[in-house]
Amino acid sequence: MRILLTGANGQLGRHLVPLLENHHELILTTRAATDLTQPDAVDAMLEQHQPELVINTAAMTAVDAAEDEPVLADQLNHQLPDQLARWCGKHAAGLIHYSTDYVFSGQNERPWREDDPTDPQSVYGLTKHLGEQAIASHRVGALIIRTAWVYSALPGNFLSAILGKAKQGTSLSVVNDQIGSPTWAGSLADASARLVDQRHVPADHVETVHIANQGAISWYEFACKAVELAAQMGVIDQAVPVEAVGSDQWPQKAKRPAWSVLDCSRYETLTGASMPAYQQALAECLSKWSEWRC
Ligand SMILES: NC(=O)c1ccc[n+]([C@@H]2O[C@H](COP(=O)([O-])OP(=O)(O)OC[C@H]3O[C@@H](n4cnc5c(N)ncnc54)[C@H](OP(=O)(O)O)[C@@H]3O)[C@@H](O)[C@H]2O)c1
Repeated sequence: MRILLTGANGQLGRHLVPLLENHHELILTTRAATDLTQPDAVDAMLEQHQPELVINTAAMTAVDAAEDEPVLADQLNHQLPDQLARWCGKHAAGLIHYSTDYVFSGQNERPWREDDPTDPQSVYGLTKHLGEQAIASHRVGALIIRTAWVYSALPGNFLSAILGKAKQGTSLSVVNDQIGSPTWAGSLADASARLVDQRHVPADHVETVHIANQGAISWYEFACKAVELAAQMGVIDQAVPVEAVGSDQWPQKAKRPAWSVLDCSRYETLTGASMPAYQQALAECLSKWSEWRC
């Protein structure tokens, strides 16, 4: 299949490339090649490559920056998927698009299901939600994959940030009142490739599926586990103290959901595969740390 992958330099994009490149004709797009905020450039890219499937991992993912730059967030998280879905619908191409736990309010007592009511609390969450709605407004075969708390060995995510500090011997303060499922970009890429290989992108309608590693823990618990395991595996020299703090002691511009756990049973039913537990995924990420840091 001829697949066009946006965001090829992002953490998910980089994990998808090795899984797809041997079985498909893969067209990679990066910001340097095509500025995806420019509709004319997006159309030119699509017309040039005529993909059979578009996998859109590109987004504005900087949650706090989105509060200050709502127009940019809207261009990338809402208008871009709208344009991609319009083109894919017209050209009978499939679309895989990624969305987020931030479309939910954060108030729940069980994992979020795909059809639970949405109620985004931040600019990032709202623009991603508008992106989902825009896709659903087109006659297109599309899969919207909602995921959460994505990390990798690449710079610019929670795990890299805390291990960077721990490597310098700096102790950590981490919030313990936001609960979710930390998800390794490698697990998310594996699951996405399985959906492609098993042909679960619908031909003529839009479906949503949740994909996250298994587990429901706080950022604090994740940081403790990560520091302990990273020290054991030689990623950092030694563990550093991790202090639990409340969100009120760690002010951030964008409001974060308190409860972000996603129910992934639809994915399991579709593919017959289950998502790895977060401990297993974290260990795998750390085992490949130096390879991915180069
Ligand atoms: N990260 C998370 O915790 C998380 C959680 C839930 C859902 N998601 C969703 O999962 C998907 C993948 O996330 P990720 O963590 O892989 O994101 P990421 O690492 O931030 O990658 C996003 C990609 O988008 C590209 N991009 C941004 N602005 C662009 C522009 N104007 N033109 C072209 N490309 C542009 C970036 O290019 P550069 O590399 O040049 O910057 C980057 O490669 C996104 O849809 C995100 O919303 C992520």
